[in-house]
Amino acid sequence: MRETISPARKIDGVITLPGDKSISHRYGMLAAVAEGRSTIANYSTGADCQSTLGCMAALGAKIDRDEEGRVVIEGGALREPAAQLDAGNSGSTIRMLSGILAAQPFTSQIGGDESLSRRPMARVMKPLTEMGACIEARDGSYPPLTIHGRTLQGIDYTLPVASAQVKSCILLAGVFAQGDTIVREPVRTRDHTEIALREFGTDIESEKRVIRLRAGARLKGRELYVPGDLSSACFFLVAALMAKEANLIIQGVGLNPTRSALLDFLVSMGASIKVLDLHQTAGELIGNLRVRTSQIAGGVIEGAMTTALIDEIPALAVLGASSRDGLTVRDASELRIKETDRIATIESNFRRMGLEIETAPDGFRVPGGQLFHAAEIDPAGDHRIAMAFAVAALAADGPCTIEGAECAGVSFPEFFDWLREIAEA
Ligand code: S3P
Repeated sequence: MRETISPARKIDGVITLPGDKSISHRYGMLAAVAEGRSTIANYSTGADCQSTLGCMAALGAKIDRDEEGRVVIEGGALREPAAQLDAGNSGSTIRMLSGILAAQPFTSQIGGDESLSRRPMARVMKPLTEMGACIEARDGSYPPLTIHGRTLQGIDYTLPVASAQVKSCILLAGVFAQGDTIVREPVRTRDHTEIALREFGTDIESEKRVIRLRAGARLKGRELYVPGDLSSACFFLVAALMAKEANLIIQGVGLNPTRSALLDFLVSMGASIKVLDLHQTAGELIGNLRVRTSQIAGGVIEGAMTTALIDEIPALAVLGASSRDGLTVRDASELRIKETDRIATIESNFRRMGLEIETAPDGFRVPGGQLFHAAEIDPAGDHRIAMAFAVAALAADGPCTIEGAECAGVSFPEFFDWLREIAEA
């Protein structure tokens, strides 16, 4: 599908986002292994989170929708799947679910699409193997994985890379293991798994980047609400900040402190963003955001900040090009192994729009004050690249086209409808 995006002067309106992708994956998996019924409201509509539900259904969980559209899951013991599990495009599904599969009394296989098949899995295979699992992968590290479940032992593991997916994989394996599991993080990563595990009834503590999960808990189904996805909100925040005139309210957004560094970073660059009606749901913070047009100074993303903003960097690169001083990103080699090599796909689409960018193996530098030219955008099947450049297109000097724009549906199928709703010429 090809989308055409016309330039917009004004961003205005009130929008509500589908549920957070990271939290939806975790609730879907935990509800399927918990005893009894869970009801999950505002579950992500993205294809990635549907892949998680598809896998859990293939593993025996009973999954339905109620009249209000909530996902209803009857969980319990999993059973051997009849065929290879399909994680689609979703790194979170394959990496986190591997932790659960490694502890089951059966063998399973899990794979995904072409992009997923190029993403490294050694980072989860190593700790799971140390816990006692036996896992085979294509060329030693790539999907599909064949996972021979075993009785696992708890582990004390220091993560070599800052990755919430790897941390979560180990903790999910730890739920079924004998003995406590400890994960030590080099840098703080999103803590939705820790929060969700506590909500489902495990004994888990976290202090100074050391997470300790006590063995032997029985997970119990429960009612949950998924806050809106801040990483999806980021595209609209950037659109509003770049517009000549903007007054946008984004309702019910997840504001977990391990994710909301985005807002601090934007505000530090001069963004006018206000958080309204902050409250909690199942241990997760949620609130409304009001954003208005702002003069953005530009800035540097490096170190722990890079980890905290990793999914938002494509949108921030676009904002950087329209900022006063530009944007520098360092310590971001992980970007090269996302759904695409995002340093390369940001660079190629910058060039298409006539924008300057200088890349490095682990980051890039974008000068500020640039003019965006109309172009044909090629997101290479990467949802966040498609959405970031749709926002760039609003600031272009003519209509832009986005080839294969349907890839936005991996995390945010409603994206282009909302964009049209809030953007005025
Ligand atoms: C995620 C963790 C991050 C992030 C991904 C979602 C999660 O990946 O980029 O989109 O839900 O835990 P890494 O764990 O590879 O850093």
